Amino acid sequence: MSNAGIFVVVEGIDGAGTTTQIERYAAYLRERGRKVHVTREPSTGPIGTFVRDLLTSRRQLPSGPAFDLMALLFAADRLDHVRGEIEPALREGAVVLSDRYDLSSLAYQSVASDLSLPAHEIVGWIRTLNRFARRPDVTVVVDVAPETASKRRRHRGAPEDLYEVDALQNRLAKAYAHAEALVPGDRILHVHGDGDIETVASLLREALAPFIERSPNHAR
Ligand code: TMP
Repeated sequence: MSNAGIFVVVEGIDGAGTTTQIERYAAYLRERGRKVHVTREPSTGPIGTFVRDLLTSRRQLPSGPAFDLMALLFAADRLDHVRGEIEPALREGAVVLSDRYDLSSLAYQSVASDLSLPAHEIVGWIRTLNRFARRPDVTVVVDVAPETASKRRRHRGAPEDLYEVDALQNRLAKAYAHAEALVPGDRILHVHGDGDIETVASLLREALAPFIERSPNHAR
């Protein structure tokens, strides 16, 4: 039997709870004997670290964080992340849980674009940049009301990242609600993320069960 793993991406606006949900789901799978690799984008590699510094304004680009420059950097980080971390983990049979992937670029960088081009042209260009990024086996979009996410971000108390602006997050929530249009052909599952952590965790487990149980290394 092949020992290929399964590549799962979790996505949503800032404050959707993807990080918390991934941690919980990883613990759930490990308790059931699965090998799990948790990862995120921007990655912890050199390009991802640089991008995080831009997001938190620790570093600045001379021309500013324009959407096209950011799309290029996110795409470069992604290829390095896939080849250096995700694919090796999949070859070892892990369930790879990635907190964000190219759906984030398609949503965030297209919404952040200031060009007066039709949206589909911008989305098409971002898709081209990510043409060689392996497709996830399944993507879970955690849909939350922008007001809920905004409250959670304020509660978290951390300084706001580049894209953590309410008006932009409102537009992002709409883009994620129609995520299928951004990644045609990908398998997308939507989970309601407005509930408490345990409620959302159980919705996510139920949504993913058919995929995880069908994957080659399911122990029982
Ligand atoms: P997070 O780790 O808190 O989710 O922060 C990552 C931020 O970067 C978040 O605001 C989403 C944004 N982002 C993009 O704009 N494009 C991308 O391709 C990725 C992976 C993240």
